[in-house]
Amino acid sequence: EINQKEFLSNGEMKPWNGPFNEVFSPVCIKTPEGLKRKRIGSFPVCTEKESTEALDAAVAAYDNGRGQWPTMSVADRIACVENFTHKMIEQKEIVAKLIMWEIGKSYADSVKEFDRTVEYIYATIDALKDIDRQSSRFEIEQGIVAQVRRSPLGVVLCMGPFNYPLNETFTTLIPALIMGNTLLFKPPKHGTLLHYPLLEAFRSSFPKGVVNTIYGRGNTIVPGLMKSGKINVLTLIGSSKVANELKKLHPKVNRLRAILGLDAKNAAIITKDADLDLAVSETVLGSLSFNGQRCTAIKIVYVHRSLAQEFLKRLSAEVEKLKFGMPWEKGVNLTPLPELNKPEYLRDCIDDAAAHGAKVINKNGGQTLETFVYPAIVYPVNSNMKLYREEQFGPIVPVVPFDDLEEPIEYLIGSPHGQQVSIFSNNAAVISSLIDPLVNQVSRVNINCQCQRGPDVFPFTGRKDSAEGTLSVVDALRSFSIRSLVATKFTDSNKK
Ligand code: G3H
Repeated sequence: EINQKEFLSNGEMKPWNGPFNEVFSPVCIKTPEGLKRKRIGSFPVCTEKESTEALDAAVAAYDNGRGQWPTMSVADRIACVENFTHKMIEQKEIVAKLIMWEIGKSYADSVKEFDRTVEYIYATIDALKDIDRQSSRFEIEQGIVAQVRRSPLGVVLCMGPFNYPLNETFTTLIPALIMGNTLLFKPPKHGTLLHYPLLEAFRSSFPKGVVNTIYGRGNTIVPGLMKSGKINVLTLIGSSKVANELKKLHPKVNRLRAILGLDAKNAAIITKDADLDLAVSETVLGSLSFNGQRCTAIKIVYVHRSLAQEFLKRLSAEVEKLKFGMPWEKGVNLTPLPELNKPEYLRDCIDDAAAHGAKVINKNGGQTLETFVYPAIVYPVNSNMKLYREEQFGPIVPVVPFDDLEEPIEYLIGSPHGQQVSIFSNNAAVISSLIDPLVNQVSRVNINCQCQRGPDVFPFTGRKDSAEGTLSVVDALRSFSIRSLVATKFTDSNKK
């Protein structure tokens, strides 16, 4: 168990004697009263007072751009991040285990998440070195010599999601930091403890007040931070509803930069000339990896009516091969879900689909045991159902039959989401006829492969309500900074 009794603010590990949030794993254990979530620790529930102090520390460290961190050379900032990363790597085992216990991700995938995050940090450092090299070049026009550089934006409020509590958090936190901004960082509710072993590394690697952590109930502590008007950048991977509510609280919302990764309802389109085996295997990966709890997951499948029965048969057979189990077991695909109310919500989606004429077509689909939910393939889904519109973020594969390719295109046009789509086809003419209409609806079109974020050097964003700003290595460095110029006019007196 990890019982965290301190938090990082203004360069110090502050002891906490107030109330604590008990953390329970999605992994259940047998008790005399039946299966119960295992207690794995606790963390501080800070109040507005502590979060305001942390905010003031970040504001003071930035000091309107005059602070030590925002004025430090790029090389020195990189050295601090490298130093942090070395210390972070020493904590790999404990952090990976905490990812596993806190959110039920398989141990193998938790280790992958850690390694991917470290690779991302090193890629970020390399990208910043390139940007910095470019800024040592001068542009000369009309007697004016200009040095183009990238400058920080100020104080960043950074909040990550539960599904990639380390990786997704750090893909905003690290670029924000390395560009010279100062930070307030609130870990996700499911996925707080795993950040605890890294606090000392933050404290000892960066100047005082540059990284501050806040804990507790988001709806208690975050609104005050936004209302203060002292946050320059809001970065959040989560729901568009929360992001919109928070943005509205800022007194000068037009001066707030928002870098957001939000809701998505990615579709797979399986055309009549698709390689069905490939479409099935990619749909399984795309819709059920980490129990479907990925913003990039395939959350609705359009299949040409002529292939629908064969597709469903093969999809069910593949789903049956997936291994259920505890996250530490080898080769496990499906694990317990961390969100308390998720099994009930998924059941409700399935009941709603049934009430409108669809069925779960695979054996045991939708069955639950405490925090486990067996994947459900639901068919035929139509526009009256919740599963047609809502982002289920769980192990349900809604399948819609179609006759004309206009139908999935119309679905995407009408959708409030615009992250990704996957097309499965072996017909080059069909693929090219789809690319333009689809790339104008979503920010990534995948051909004959699942939807996903990686490779992490690719831009990661979304249209409509799915995102604001762009992440991934170089784009994130741009997102958390502004292009500025130092322009000198050559006159007789300064020519030399
Ligand atoms: O939840 C959204 C993640 O960025 C997804 O990343 O596609 O690599 O699983 P992934």
